[in-house]
Parts: sequence; structure tokens; C-alpha cells
Amino acid sequence: MADIPDTLLESLRAARHVMVLTGTGVSAESGLATFRTPQTGLWERFRPEDLATPSAFQRDPALVWGWYEWRRMQVMRAAPNPAHEALSALQKLMPRMTLVTQNVDDLHERAGSDPVIHLHGTLLQPYCGRCRESYALPREIPEEPDGGRLLEPPSCHRCAGSIRPGVVWFGEALPQRDWDLAVRAAAACDAFLCVGTSSVVQPAASLIEMAIKAGAVAVQINPNPTGLEGRLFCELQGPAGVVLPELLERLRRLY
Ligand code: OAD
Repeated sequence: MADIPDTLLESLRAARHVMVLTGTGVSAESGLATFRTPQTGLWERFRPEDLATPSAFQRDPALVWGWYEWRRMQVMRAAPNPAHEALSALQKLMPRMTLVTQNVDDLHERAGSDPVIHLHGTLLQPYCGRCRESYALPREIPEEPDGGRLLEPPSCHRCAGSIRPGVVWFGEALPQRDWDLAVRAAAACDAFLCVGTSSVVQPAASLIEMAIKAGAVAVQINPNPTGLEGRLFCELQGPAGVVLPELLERLRRLY
């Protein structure tokens, strides 16, 4: 059982606008890897400069495309967990909730959250690197995703350019419209929940600072410390799939 202070429940009950920022930790209990968890994190096992930059894709498109297809298959085989479900229910309970994710999976959507702001794009919607036309991928899920497979990216039907993953790479700008919506929500929200993110990647992490500066009550839900401690109203230490359903249950009793 997470230790949820009554003062937090009162603040959330009184909030007119709650903002939630999620990271890969929210999908960990669905079996998807985080980036920085020691030993299992993706950036512990792979080098971002080989896989997650425009020049990496230029240098070795088959390596990069194969890696993202492997991750897309994992997402397609995964299912939303109680953390995604609780956030979807929370969005319906609250007068207003802005859900912003750094995740490139679609587990929030599959749990019924709508709208979801994706700051780092999505694995499920690749597009042409030359003309930006979107590209429809086959929906079949293979028996066993193969992590080491080189795979040539498909070609654009319109201009024959290389199709690239629909994610934001290091050195690239965030999608402007999504970023603007997130900044506006951070400046206006009364409460900010930081769920399953190490809060080290900019500019996404700056949203927390913006919200705190604007007077929001900031809360972290994470089994591990992140460095945000001391700046927060409180920390709910534990897995999101345990803490969020409990928070939802306690809040429901107040409505
Ligand atoms: P990280 O791997 O940096 O952080 C994941 C966080 O989730 C850590 O703080 C874990 O302690 C926490 N965590 C693990 N299991 C959890 C659970 N069951 N419940 C709650 N929290 C849990 O991943 P992100 O913060 O998502 O960017 O990484 C941010 C960005 O860095 C990603 O969007 C990606 C990456 O490079 C791009 O690709 C542009």
C-alpha cells in the first residue's frame, strides 16, 4: 500500500486542471523496457548514438529500422496495465486532465485515454524522411520479435524516399503543436503528476519546473528516486501499477 497523504487527496480533489507526464516506467509493468534502468534499460544495452539520431539512420538504415521494428512488435504484443487503466479513469473523473507522454507506445490510447499528447512521437506511425508522407505498416505480430535483425526500411509510395520511424531522435525538435499544448498545460495546471520517468531528458523534464514555478502541487510516482526529490509536494514511492489504482480508489471516495 502506498502512503498517500490526505493533503494530496484534498489538493487533487480541489484541482481544476491536473497534468500528468508519463515515461517508460508506466509501461514497465506491461513488459516493455525502460531506457535507464540498470541492466535492463534500453540505453544500458544499446548506444543511442547508433540507433536514435538522424545520422545513425543515414549511416545504417537497416540497423535502425530493424531495431525500431523489433520495439514496435514488442509494443503490439503488450497490453495496457493497471497504471494505464487508472490514468484513463482519472481523466474521466477529473474536471480536466492533460495527459502528456514521452512514450512511443500506444498503451495509454488502448486503455481509453483521449487525448494523449505524444512529445516523442510514436513507433506506430512512421513517415517518409523526405516528403513526410505517413506510411501504413502491416499489423501482423510475429511469434517472436527478433532483436538482432537488420531490416531495410520500406520506400515511400509517393516519392520513393526512405521511410523512417515516427519517433523523435536526439538532436531533433519535438512536434511543435504537442509541445505548445504541453507548455500551456504546465503553466495552467493546479497539480502535476510525474509518473515513471527519470525526468532527465529535456525539454520534457522542464515541464515539471514550469508547473512548480506556476504554483502547481507536484507529485512523483516512481519506485526509485530521480533527483526531483525536495522540489515535490510529495513522492508516492512504488510501481505505478500499484500506486495509481490506489490513488484513484481513494479519490473516487471523495467525489
Ligand atoms: P527512463 O528509463 O529514463 O526512466 C524510467 C523511470 O521509470 C525510472 O525513474 C524508473 O525508476 C521508473 N520505473 C521503473 N519501473 C516503474 C514502475 N513500475 N512504475 C513507475 N515507475 C517505474 O525513461 P524515461 O524517463 O521515459 O527519449 O526516458 C525519457 C526519454 O529518454 C525517452 O522518452 C526517450 C529516452 O531517450 C527519446 O527517445 C527522445
